[in-house]
Amino acid sequence: MNDIRRTIKWEDNKVVMIDQRKLPHKLEMLTCTSHYEVIEAIKNMAIRGAPALGVAAAFGMALAARNIKPKNKADFLAKLKEAKDELSNSRPTAINLFWALDEIWNEVANSQETIDSLREIILDKANLLAEQDIKTNYLIGENGVSLFNDGDTILTHCNTGSLATVSYGTALGVIRSVYKKKKNIRVYVNETRPVLQGARLTAWELKDDKIPFTLICDSTAGFLMYQKKINKVVVGADRIAVNGDVVNKIGSYSISVLAKTHNIPFFVAAPLSTIDFAIASGIDIPIEQRDPREVTFIMNKKIAPDHIEVYNPAFDIIPHENITAIITEHGVLVPPYEKTLKSFLSK
Ligand code: MRU
Repeated sequence: MNDIRRTIKWEDNKVVMIDQRKLPHKLEMLTCTSHYEVIEAIKNMAIRGAPALGVAAAFGMALAARNIKPKNKADFLAKLKEAKDELSNSRPTAINLFWALDEIWNEVANSQETIDSLREIILDKANLLAEQDIKTNYLIGENGVSLFNDGDTILTHCNTGSLATVSYGTALGVIRSVYKKKKNIRVYVNETRPVLQGARLTAWELKDDKIPFTLICDSTAGFLMYQKKINKVVVGADRIAVNGDVVNKIGSYSISVLAKTHNIPFFVAAPLSTIDFAIASGIDIPIEQRDPREVTFIMNKKIAPDHIEVYNPAFDIIPHENITAIITEHGVLVPPYEKTLKSFLSK
């Protein structure tokens, strides 16, 4: 397997990330020197994927801390809080973004350290979150292996790989780990309209790893299941409610219904930081509505008439009843999720 690329890092006092808008045609890096540039990169999806968004936001805080010219410590903290709020407003659904911002904020809010030390503390924490993300993904991968068999044909949706994380990936990390065990698998990759994370990003990663895969239109998955050509599904998550409902890329709900109809196990792979302990069920998770142009255009080419109504939610809800298991870094959660989650956390 090729060396898996790293999606985001801190280098020479800047944040350097793969510009995912350019893939698969060009592998180009984007450099951010302020938290405003990080916000822009998140909004325009130069960086995307729940865990990657968390780390981007954390590095955004490190940039803000460096760039603030404070009158005193209270002023520093007030301006840093402003930056945190601005970063929080970049995208609404993936909880990892808010989780990472809180992790940073908790380091500084009541600290007695000097401004210069706080700048270092924030950067160290952001780097730690990035390193932890990689370790977490390897653990998720290892924990998922026993759920798969030699010869499996696995459907996945969106991009949950190195590009959606700092490296390795969640659902795609599981697929990587399964493949490493020399299991003779094939991956079916949904193109994932409208932004095409499957066709552009997952296909690029799997090709690079030489893992056998077939790219399909989203609407083909049902027919493949009917033909018994898919026997497992694994997807990622942007936010998980306490009852096990999962919000993930638009199209995930339909796949889960199809999988249930065809008695196909449906797995979600995600770090525990994706669980929102304040939200009881999926219906309360905010769903991002994106620009209608993502639907009416493909790669800057207009494909629909002018002046029409468009509905473009970026995510949907996978009801917990449709989920066979949730693969995390601490092990595999099975239904009833509310109960297993509690026992899991008290270990
Ligand atoms: O809109 P995106 O590309 O940020 O959405 C990403 C997804 O929905 C992924 O499936 C999810 O973040 C899990 S990634 C490890």
